[in-house]
Amino acid sequence: MTKHLYDRIQVLEREDELDRQQRLKAMARPLLSWYEGHARALPWRDDPTPYRVWISEIMLQQTRVEAVKPYFERFMAALPTVQALAAVEDDRLMKLWEGLGYYTRARNLKKAALMITERHGGELPGSYEALLALPGIGSYTAGAIASIAFGLPVPAVDGNVLRVISRVLADREDIRQPSVKARMERELREIMPRERTSQYNQGLIEVGAIVCVPGGEPRCGECPMESICLTRRQGLWKEIPVRGALKKRKVEELTVCLIRRGEEVAIHKRPDTGLLASLYELPNVTGHLEPDQVPGAFGLSADLVEAVEPLPAAKHIFSHVEWHMAGYAVSLREGGEMNREGAFFFVERSAVKGEYPLPGAFKAYTKLI
Ligand code: ADE
Repeated sequence: MTKHLYDRIQVLEREDELDRQQRLKAMARPLLSWYEGHARALPWRDDPTPYRVWISEIMLQQTRVEAVKPYFERFMAALPTVQALAAVEDDRLMKLWEGLGYYTRARNLKKAALMITERHGGELPGSYEALLALPGIGSYTAGAIASIAFGLPVPAVDGNVLRVISRVLADREDIRQPSVKARMERELREIMPRERTSQYNQGLIEVGAIVCVPGGEPRCGECPMESICLTRRQGLWKEIPVRGALKKRKVEELTVCLIRRGEEVAIHKRPDTGLLASLYELPNVTGHLEPDQVPGAFGLSADLVEAVEPLPAAKHIFSHVEWHMAGYAVSLREGGEMNREGAFFFVERSAVKGEYPLPGAFKAYTKLI
């Protein structure tokens, strides 16, 4: 931006006359100089190859930076290339992802790695459209990879950026509406700088993460956009951004059993479609059972069962479903017949955690294994 134009914007700003586009344009200069001094040192920022940026951005969807850091390092050490990811066994991949949640992300990573090998010679494609065509990559992730790894001038609008921009503009449209995000992407694409696109996009994300924070009062005194932010000027941070109501989550009741036989514990592989597809779980049935109902419900004859002891209730919240779990520890005598052979199988307690991906949803009980 020329000095002349910048001065003109400052004058307009004082007069409160900036239109939407001018206000958005005025963000670049203060944002870029702020980011230079305030970017957090994060593992994926040191060496932003397309592969590292891709993996980090997928992990960062729905997951906090601090939670992602150790997973990212471990994943990179285990699967350092697209080729390694394309060839990994599913159980090993799920084990690397265990605890991060939203396992479809990991399944899509492998699918995309196979496509990248087949169609793009093993290198992530350097165009927004080709990135967008890969499984698990939406407009945000395509924009993040294109701008951070390839320097292309495309926006990367995630929840952080939606919050920052709607506040700068004091825009009261519902940021949960896809049309609102699409408009913001169009507007940012028009005005974002052609250079330093990585710093620009990550600067917006960073302001959203550490200044214009999602919960509680924003730290406006530290914000590079303080002087152009209409929400700041009008004192509206409690009202903006507007988020429409989410659909209510369905509650499902479950009874989960930690079935022990000597040094072994029973586990079961989930079906390969649906929630937590292909992952392992502790045996469970729908509904909350009383202790005397447990053996029958799990196909265990009474003479096989030594004891049924209640465990604490637990809850796990997915995006669309909540599990309310009752738990029992069941001790079995060695030997004896099982009526539901095949419903679960026994593995050594010491081996289960190292070898079988057990999702965090069962943590209250798997931690007792
Ligand atoms: N959240 C999503 N993408 C991010 C990034 N590149 N850096 C920090 N936080 C992020």
